[in-house]
Amino acid sequence: MASIIVRGCGPLQGTVSASGSKNAALPIIAACLLNDRPVHLHNVPALEDVRIMREVLSSLGARCSGPDEHGRMSIDCAAISRTDPPYELVNRMRASFVTLGPLLARFGHAEVPLPGGCQIGARPVGEHTAAMKALGAEITQEAGQIVARAERLQGAEVFLSIASVGATQNALMAAALAEGRSVIHNAAREPEVAEVCSFLAAMGVEIEGIGTSIITVHGQGGISRELEYSVIPDRIEAGTYLLAIAGSGGSGSVANIIPAHLEALTSKMREMGITVEEGRDSISVSGPPELLPTDIRTAAHPGFPTDLQPQFSVLLTIANGVSQVSETVFERRMGHFPELTRMGATVKTANGTAVIQGRPGCLSGVQVDAFDLRGAAAMVLAGLFAEGETVISGLDFIRRGYEHLPEKFASLGGSVRFSDEPAIGQSAQ
Ligand code: UD1
Repeated sequence: MASIIVRGCGPLQGTVSASGSKNAALPIIAACLLNDRPVHLHNVPALEDVRIMREVLSSLGARCSGPDEHGRMSIDCAAISRTDPPYELVNRMRASFVTLGPLLARFGHAEVPLPGGCQIGARPVGEHTAAMKALGAEITQEAGQIVARAERLQGAEVFLSIASVGATQNALMAAALAEGRSVIHNAAREPEVAEVCSFLAAMGVEIEGIGTSIITVHGQGGISRELEYSVIPDRIEAGTYLLAIAGSGGSGSVANIIPAHLEALTSKMREMGITVEEGRDSISVSGPPELLPTDIRTAAHPGFPTDLQPQFSVLLTIANGVSQVSETVFERRMGHFPELTRMGATVKTANGTAVIQGRPGCLSGVQVDAFDLRGAAAMVLAGLFAEGETVISGLDFIRRGYEHLPEKFASLGGSVRFSDEPAIGQSAQ
């Protein structure tokens, strides 16, 4: 089975550059469905999830190229011929549900399969469909699909009961072509939501309240603008490398990032005794001789991101003392704790909370499983901090969300290798 092989290492040193944000690129690619002129994106990461979203658009009639090795991707949605993304693709990636809003808004019809649940918990879409209804759509559920119809969406007050990232993005894209003004209340404030707003604005949509929980969108009659757009850096990928460097007791930086997007993480890293210095577009960290324990509670932005909880938890297992992790966004996102226990950590979990009895040097390399993308990243960090070799089954997860991971760790002095590929430095042999 494809796996990731990690060698325990000493302190990591050096600089890595963050790739473009996966979670911003995915809805931006979907938002291209609103535009009947070509869009040329930059800083798009070459990841499996991006390829799936590209396939979704291609299956509807879009002409797509890239992303190439420079992060360039072009999407032309002039000749969309279908409004029903296939189940095989939506099932492979829940994020493709954000095609609902733009398809409905531009073509008056969309049939998107209901995404199933996943390892980290149920993934309901009630907020997405409620937003479409508020904008005047008729929504039915037929044979496992959400079917949405509206001759022309009407601008409206949209109240989300949960500040869902995906539902806010879907509502924004739908409102972009609704008639008149829409106000989205209790909007998610994640940077990847603000980024969808910025992209819509670059396509000519007038938007107020970007980055806040009340966003006003002035709908357009249509979008017909060829444009270039560069995607923001990936704060979750960046945070993963910062945690790896600091947790290894090393010092180094992550470049090409927006430091303000990582404040919830860096303030917690400081509580652990890690030295953090913010530059204009980079963050440098330096791990202390001994990490201090702390508590985290995941929450919607600007709270501590659930997508960094598993990786942060690994550092807590090797801190000196007791820490607590409360997972409030995806309560089942705890699958990495039993695996960390198998590596020597002492963790008790119950009802979305983990109590960790941290002990420096407690981890040793064994064979472990990963159950989701960020859990897989957490196991890579655990492997780097452990004595010996760790073999992680779950390479497909890493390919969904971390671009050039072995190469980036190699540049920091770490050894992470994919078992179905030649090891770094062996490719020419
Ligand atoms: C996005 C991110 C994911 C991140 C999450 C929270 C992408 C592709 N994925 O996922 O990496 O972990 O934000 O920051 O950007 N909910 C409902 N009803 C709904 C929608 C959501 O109850 O209709 C609940 C979910 O079950 C979850 C919470 O709201 O408990 C947050 O989910 P949401 O913000 O929608 O996450 P995603 O957009 O799926």
